[in-house]
Amino acid sequence: MDMKTVRRQARERMNGACRVCPQCNGKACSGELPGMGGIRSGASFRANIRALEKVHLKLRLIHDLREPETACEILGLPLKMPILIAPLAGTSFNMGNGLSEERFAQAVTAGARAAGTVSCTGDGTSEVFDSGLNAVQSLDGWGIPVIKPWAGEAFFERLERVARAGCRVVGMDLDTAAITALARSKRPVSPKSREELAEIVQKSHALGLKFMLKGVLSVEDALAAEACGCDALVVSNHGGRVLEALPGTADALPDIARSVRRMAVLVDGGVRSGADVLKMLALGARAVLIGRPAIIAAMGAEEEGVRLFLTRLQRQLMESMLLTGCASLRQAGPHLLA
Ligand SMILES: Cc1cc2nc3c(=O)[nH]c(=O)nc-3n(C[C@H](O)[C@H](O)[C@H](O)COP(=O)(O)O)c2cc1C
Repeated sequence: MDMKTVRRQARERMNGACRVCPQCNGKACSGELPGMGGIRSGASFRANIRALEKVHLKLRLIHDLREPETACEILGLPLKMPILIAPLAGTSFNMGNGLSEERFAQAVTAGARAAGTVSCTGDGTSEVFDSGLNAVQSLDGWGIPVIKPWAGEAFFERLERVARAGCRVVGMDLDTAAITALARSKRPVSPKSREELAEIVQKSHALGLKFMLKGVLSVEDALAAEACGCDALVVSNHGGRVLEALPGTADALPDIARSVRRMAVLVDGGVRSGADVLKMLALGARAVLIGRPAIIAAMGAEEEGVRLFLTRLQRQLMESMLLTGCASLRQAGPHLLA
């Protein structure tokens, strides 16, 4: 199996929901939501791609480095690479129904583990949340379930289930606080006050879970998240799927990374290659999350597709580190940029 075959099979299985373009940049699928695109004009999805394109790495070839080290520890999880799979959900309404929600969740979680890293899982309908949690539970809790910002007790019910599944980390994608379909559902979502967020973090810690806040794009929210006790944040505009007027994450990342003291800063949005991973690390991230390309890998060849995809990305990251003279992830910083 090679990535060409994985991509061909994904194109067939996704029934037009994704065209599996040579460059996954939000142009062909603009406004396709439900689907794989960015919301409305698709501008926030494309802003992620553009922000990364503006960043350049500095070529450095006269050095003794031969084997760059990509291993790291993120939120207490030992990983072979600073690359996680983002929470991704909705096989029937977003991804052309080529795989059941259960099989998709198993593919991303098991594929990530086989490659030596970890996958998040998504939330929304009960089927989505249960599929993700079952997959993570079958791997003894090796995964990061990301819960929607449900109002009131609905959030805490799911939080307790995450703890019972044996997970060590939980997340919340606060940027979905205004998704109309969710806001109007029987379990409404909402933004959180500082008091509410602090309570969520406190309960997570009491259950033995580290807490990761996903969907931060401003220094103000980052500082508030840190003050509320969050262990990590993900600089993210939800792949451009919640609001069409947001900046690219690579543009927002440096100020946020500089402003926080204690939290691990992760980022997602438009990361497509090992060079993109290194750019994000140089801009201040500890690790990246991958969205749409991981969907293509899982749809194309399930666990094996995801493993192949992540292993290739790790190899590309090592090549990029070698060509910029970066020996380990700790050494990645702004000096790598041209
Ligand atoms: C089809 C699809 C489903 C998604 N589902 C979720 C989800 O359930 N929870 C969540 O936090 N983010 C979700 N996201 C957003 C991703 O986690 C991530 O932020 C985004 O895809 C990163 O951008 P990229 O796709 O350009 O890599 C979804 C994205 C897509 C494309």
